[in-house]
Amino acid sequence: MALVWRPYLTLALFFSLAASGFPRSALRLLAIRSLREGLGTNDIEVYSTTINCKVTSRFSHNVITTRAVNRGHEAKEVFFDAELPKTGFITNFTLTIDGVTYPGNIKEKEVAKKQYEKAVSQGKTAGLVKASGRKLEKFTVSVNVAAGSKVTFELTYEELLKRHKGKYEMYLKIQPKQLVKNFEIDVHIFEPQGISTLDAEASFITNDLLGSALTKSFSGKKGHVSFKPSLDQQRSCPTCADSLLNGDFTVTYDVNRESPANVQIVNGYFVHFFAPQGLPVVPKNVVFVIDVSGSMSGRKIEQTKDALLRILEDVRKEDYLNFILFSGSVTTWKDQLVQATPENLQEARTFVKNIYDQGLTNINDALLRAIHMLNKAQEEHLVPERSTSIIIMLTDGDANTGESRPDKIRENVRNAIQGKFPLYNLGFGKNLDYSFLESMALENQGLARRIYEDSDADLQLQGFYEEVANPLLTGVQVEYPDNAIQDLTQNSYQHFYDGSEIVVAGRLVDEDMNSFTADVKGQGALNDLIYTEKVDMKDMEKALKEQDYIFGNYIERLWAYLTIEQLLEKRKNAQGEEKEKLTAQALDLSLKYHFVTPLTSMVVTKPEDDENQTDIADKPGEEARSAVPSMAYQVSYQPPQNPYYYVDGDPHFIIRVSEKDDAICFNIDEDPGTVLRLIQDPVTGLTVNGQIIGDKRNSLDSNTRKTFFGKLGISSTQMDFRIEVTTEKITLWKGAVPTSLSWLDTVTLVQDGLSVTINRKKNMVISFGRGVNFVVVLHQVWKKHPVHQDFLGFYVLDSHRMSTQTHGLLGQFFHPFDFEVSDIHPGSDPTKLDATMVVKNHQMTVTRGSQKDYRKDTSMGEKVNCWFVHNNGEGLIDGVHTDYIVSNL
Ligand SMILES: *[C@@H]1O[C@H](CO)[C@@H](O)[C@H](O)[C@H]1NC(C)=O
Ligand SMILES: *[C@@H]1O[C@H](CO)[C@@H](O)[C@H](O)[C@H]1NC(C)=O
Repeated sequence: MALVWRPYLTLALFFSLAASGFPRSALRLLAIRSLREGLGTNDIEVYSTTINCKVTSRFSHNVITTRAVNRGHEAKEVFFDAELPKTGFITNFTLTIDGVTYPGNIKEKEVAKKQYEKAVSQGKTAGLVKASGRKLEKFTVSVNVAAGSKVTFELTYEELLKRHKGKYEMYLKIQPKQLVKNFEIDVHIFEPQGISTLDAEASFITNDLLGSALTKSFSGKKGHVSFKPSLDQQRSCPTCADSLLNGDFTVTYDVNRESPANVQIVNGYFVHFFAPQGLPVVPKNVVFVIDVSGSMSGRKIEQTKDALLRILEDVRKEDYLNFILFSGSVTTWKDQLVQATPENLQEARTFVKNIYDQGLTNINDALLRAIHMLNKAQEEHLVPERSTSIIIMLTDGDANTGESRPDKIRENVRNAIQGKFPLYNLGFGKNLDYSFLESMALENQGLARRIYEDSDADLQLQGFYEEVANPLLTGVQVEYPDNAIQDLTQNSYQHFYDGSEIVVAGRLVDEDMNSFTADVKGQGALNDLIYTEKVDMKDMEKALKEQDYIFGNYIERLWAYLTIEQLLEKRKNAQGEEKEKLTAQALDLSLKYHFVTPLTSMVVTKPEDDENQTDIADKPGEEARSAVPSMAYQVSYQPPQNPYYYVDGDPHFIIRVSEKDDAICFNIDEDPGTVLRLIQDPVTGLTVNGQIIGDKRNSLDSNTRKTFFGKLGISSTQMDFRIEVTTEKITLWKGAVPTSLSWLDTVTLVQDGLSVTINRKKNMVISFGRGVNFVVVLHQVWKKHPVHQDFLGFYVLDSHRMSTQTHGLLGQFFHPFDFEVSDIHPGSDPTKLDATMVVKNHQMTVTRGSQKDYRKDTSMGEKVNCWFVHNNGEGLIDGVHTDYIVSNL
């Protein structure tokens, strides 16, 4: 066979499910990192990538097709990566090689699993899907393509777009990695209610520059977005061969809301969308139950406090609130809920600012206290009659004191709440039993949400609050005539929140009926409401004709999608026979409708060899995440999201600016022996200086010589503490008493809030209390190298506890600052790009370059692209570089 086609393919999808009726906070992400070439060759040409999305009534059907040809003289491995939203279900994957198509089939997971395990045990895992970031899972597959052969990958997935803060959002992540002759995103939207807004934007380029490549339009029920950059428009500069396309492509839209509801019926299946507008907000009684245990210390508690302070800005004056803090013990702000008067809010702010961490984690007592408080407030009419209650609990760990058995806590909470109000559990970070939080929330009409430990954790928290801040209706019940409807999805919701939408789907018992009435009942802020929607089947048929151009059975598939999603969710909390029943139902539907769910796998079969179907698309649920076999082809380097600063190599200074998702770099050229001030904070008394060494030649010619940091001095006057690091040893002084350590040690030293960890021959991590975290990287070269010698790199991972007066070559950038880059053009070196940068009121010419980050990998490093500022950082750094020279470490 001319073509070496390795018959295995593994697709393992994770996904988490949202509680229905509640808007998912997140973006719906679809990302494409279409083909990348086999190692270091240019023989694989990707000549076409198309993303075709059809959305009918919020239900999206997306087909990603990538075509490539191997123009080389030998077989090459070709990779196809795509990032999909966790809420999407893959429905198809086919591979076509030289005109022969290998289709995907959905199998029950257990059946497919043996083949999957066999493939893995033989080291044959060619591709799989793993969670990628917060909202994505990444699909990767590779195939060996013979010289001269063509290959086509086609991946299809479907998803119900949920309304969130007033918009439906489709988020495509794009990274083709090479110029693609035919690159196209084509999105067709059909919404029977009529489209009211539609927008599309790309994060990697401004819409002006996109020019003719991007078109967007909508009129009546139809919307269209097309993004089709020519080869020239894809270039990162007019003469560049690399692609500008790298980032997010987002389509957002909403539909007309003249009518609160819309019902559609096709082929005996119906869907009912409900989102009333203009209702007053129902006052709410909120108890924030906040973990302040020791593990929250540092950034987490600071972010929590920031988020609570911002939430206090958003609290409505009709609302009632209270805070319960828990560690080993439980403390409350007030004995009972209080109204959000300006005085009380002021007092609340002071309370929040004074939160500090301590001790263990007693979730049980904290939740029971909150529930008791809300129950009592209702019973004793301390809160308005038509108000609604919620508990928002935030924790970053597992219960470890008081009642700490998860099952018992769940039972206690269930018995105390008795379905009266929802419990929302926010799990902060990774070190917690998320499934416990999720189960407990789900069985109390709420939901769980992960808060990712990141620089935007406070925004995630605040964002969650915004979603639940505006209940417009409570006790929502969607009703249909008896005996007219069957196989109904969830039809009762504790709350309807502004900006979201309730979706109910089902099947008509009698397809020939002439009309159909749906009622939605709920309690508003002022009164009870019933919305009645009468549907005329004749009108419906007429409307259906217009919709044909999209895809005909979308309502049936939407119903199946929603039903499977809800069955899987219920299954999480079910036991024994009930669980088996739910599993069987979800499995049947997944197989019938060709969805890759946690119960099914996709198997790609070679048509001529049915027995040997070893290509498997496997998809474990969230709980199986840790059991995923490690991927054969790992994700390429993702730059860290937080701002960070470092100096490494021939001293290259890198300032990563997270808001820009970009970095600035500069060099300092000085004679060996010179000591430079890297950080100086007069408030915390922290100083970091570095001494320059040359190479073994001791050349004085500044054009050819290489210089590095050979010695670092780190000191804290407050702690009366000093560290000197050389490439040989590490010396710590407390007062005048030194402790000597070696780079051959692996050791952690803790004293007075300071912690120093040495990782043998690799790096050293220094934390001054919380919020100040440095890493020193040791670069060792071959001892007999004629020129090079060992040197050090210095990295600032966390500086948020340092004062605003911090200065120094790195320290001056710890304060937020901004820069603008414009007029990108080929530079004097035609292989590089120049641009004009405006920063700190200076304008200068900068050059695109890259540096290495050696924190994770000391030998190879990871590439960081940056704008290089010439002449020792002139214009970027305050003053001139010689201002930073100090007399000693
Ligand atoms: C999967 O995609 C292939 C190629 O487009 C198509 O021929 C096939 O019918 C699809 N299968 C299903 C179940 O949709
Ligand atoms: C799979 O293929 C190999 C050779 O192509 C053959 O020897 C073997 O019997 C096949 N396996 C099964 C289960 O049919």
